Amino acid sequence: MNVLDFQACKKRAEKIVMLTCYDYTSARIVQDSDVDVILVGDSAAMVMHGHATTLPADSEMMCRHIESVARGTRDKFIIGDMPFLSFRRSLPDTMQTVGDMMKAGAHAVKLEGFDGNGNTIAHIVKSGVPVMGHLGLTPQSVHQIGGYRVQGRDDCAADTLRQEALACEQAGCFALVLECVPEQLAADITGSLSIPTIGIGAGAHTDGQVLVMQDLLGLSADFKPKFVRQYLAGRQLWKDAFNAWASDVRNGHFPTTDESYSQ
Ligand code: KIV
Repeated sequence: MNVLDFQACKKRAEKIVMLTCYDYTSARIVQDSDVDVILVGDSAAMVMHGHATTLPADSEMMCRHIESVARGTRDKFIIGDMPFLSFRRSLPDTMQTVGDMMKAGAHAVKLEGFDGNGNTIAHIVKSGVPVMGHLGLTPQSVHQIGGYRVQGRDDCAADTLRQEALACEQAGCFALVLECVPEQLAADITGSLSIPTIGIGAGAHTDGQVLVMQDLLGLSADFKPKFVRQYLAGRQLWKDAFNAWASDVRNGHFPTTDESYSQ
């Protein structure tokens, strides 16, 4: 998959499958899977580092995760998330972060929100770096929007989202994440754009879907929003494996002679 394939997928009505990933071992498994695109999301701050929001993610954190994922993949398209405020300080600061993430192994960057970011997006794109937009629920603005809630429910907010989606396309974004927006609005936006939309909590009519890996695998402890489908009872399976090993150690069943070195 490369940046041109996104448009091609939309034209052929082939769904784009994007999954978050943050580490080398998982990346090697994703590499061998049918997932098209890897997002090294700033959700790393939450699912890998235990923070309550994505705000503590910074360029250093994102670059280390991007490097690990890049080492574990051969030909997956990797998108690095621009962390909180990294594109709001100054253009040189923004471009430093973009450069660091691309050198770490990203093939594109993702940037939350449009308002105030149009020129920045256009500048990054003109610098030769593909940009994925992200509208709807933008978790970096969680304190301004008053929590993790569905966006674009009233007519005015829906109109703003429609306009911003078009503006993202005009600024040069190659694709757009729509997070937690009503299904019909996501479908309307998808139909109005020539770039593909990738939905999370945005219904079935976007051009692709993205989920956080830990959610899909059932590894997240207390987080099960409506839009997540767990494909594995990961927590239970991991716990069972840990407990089976602990029990074997305590009963003297681990290690066996076969699992030990001879003289
Ligand atoms: O950081 C992230 O994982 C994301 C996805 C939820 C789209 O931005």
